[in-house]
Amino acid sequence: MNKISIIGAGMTGSTTAHWLAEREIADLVLVDIVEGMPQGKALDLLEALPIVGSDVSVVGSNDYAATKGSDIIVITAGIPRKPGMSREDLLTTNAQIVRAGVENTLKHSPDAIYIILTNPLDTMAYLAMQVGKLPRERIMGQAGVLDSARMRAFVALETGVSVENIHCYVMGGHGDEMVPLTRHSNVAGIPLRDLLPADKLEAIVNRTRKGGGEIVNLLKTGSAYYAPAAAVAQMAEAILKDKHLIVPASAYMQGEYGLKDMFFGAPVQLGRGGVEKIVEYKLDADEKAALAASAAAVKESIGVMMGLVKI
Ligand code: APR
Repeated sequence: MNKISIIGAGMTGSTTAHWLAEREIADLVLVDIVEGMPQGKALDLLEALPIVGSDVSVVGSNDYAATKGSDIIVITAGIPRKPGMSREDLLTTNAQIVRAGVENTLKHSPDAIYIILTNPLDTMAYLAMQVGKLPRERIMGQAGVLDSARMRAFVALETGVSVENIHCYVMGGHGDEMVPLTRHSNVAGIPLRDLLPADKLEAIVNRTRKGGGEIVNLLKTGSAYYAPAAAVAQMAEAILKDKHLIVPASAYMQGEYGLKDMFFGAPVQLGRGGVEKIVEYKLDADEKAALAASAAAVKESIGVMMGLVKI
């Protein structure tokens, strides 16, 4: 059985374990600093599995030794956004937490593939890559699957068509400058621009960009977890099953889209080795300009982080 360890057993971490356990693709380990909490959540989840019909093991621990031999490490540890906080406000605290998570897991799983969820995630993925000296294939951030799923959900609400028919692609950094690609997104092959009036489409684009904040404002005590966790589960399954699945995700750019030495959301092909390929869309001038603005925001965040954290 494959093994996935999730660092941070809070809302996104434990919900990721939940979605993954249902998929029956890996034994699961939850690690957190809070004593008893990962153990309690793991036991509760384990006790649900006879009902669900899934034969995986679920272990909770405060000790990184439990992660030994993991195929995938998911890092969700950190503090979530509170109302009024930007993702960048989280930078310093989460950088220390992610750094510890990478260093402590790599000792026990030197070949693991890393999926970073902790925000600001493009920056945290960059940090994790540097700290772990990871090849670009083995490190990615989850954001695009989530942002695209939000857009798909909003298009479904607007059109009344099955979510399965709706294909949306959001590129760029996981911030308010992200770039929902309306020209590439479609409903059963019909471009969104042909299906929806411009004002409705613009409203969907704006709601997608602010999708995380909308949930933070409603929850008041934390940020989204069902959809981010479901996104991680899909990525982990694509890797373990060697599906060669193309999903939007944050990956290390080496010249793609004219970007270098940064993580950025783009269509990425996932298989057993991790990031197999970054797919390049043909973009028009408007799309290029929007991506440049998003890239500038991510670059700035990485620059700030590198000024704060010694690697
Ligand atoms: N090691 C392990 N776990 C840690 C550490 C650490 N050094 N520091 C904090 N944690 C744990 C906390 O104890 C908590 O259980 O990380 C968990 C985070 O869980 P939540 O507070 O519920 O936050 P969550 O909603 O899961 O979000 C976590 O993911 O989506 C992003 O923006 C979000 O950056 C945030 C992260």
